[in-house]
Amino acid sequence: MNKKVIKIAIQMRQNSYAPYSNYKVGSAVEVTSGEIIGGCNVESSSYGLTCCAERIALYNALSKGFKKFISIAVSTKNGGFPCGACRQVIWEICGEIPVYICDDKTLLTIIKSSILLPSPFNDKYLK
Ligand code: THU
Repeated sequence: MNKKVIKIAIQMRQNSYAPYSNYKVGSAVEVTSGEIIGGCNVESSSYGLTCCAERIALYNALSKGFKKFISIAVSTKNGGFPCGACRQVIWEICGEIPVYICDDKTLLTIIKSSILLPSPFNDKYLK
């Protein structure tokens, strides 16, 4: 396990833009070259436009050209798990990877992406 992914996820909470919920979330993904790419939640006054930290971290990594992911970490003040939308996106983009659930200081739990999203929808249904 690359502990840097946990450290960066925890640090990314500092960049969270969450003036409505005040629930700061940080995330980071580890790519095959060992680089770590971070993201934080970004809220909107229209609420529905809010984007979670996990998706921002993944979209940030994809937009930098990274395609293969080793792990993802998420940090909140109280060890919150990824929401349903993020579980779908993590599964589609990363497949089976460990998801590191952290609070604001440390790793709490490791859970596989397939456990977070059993019986997923995927592109096979679109063919
Ligand atoms: N949030 C995340 O960033 N990730 C999740 O998996 C769950 C929720 C954010 C969205 C919103 O800014 C705040 O947490 C409260 O829902």
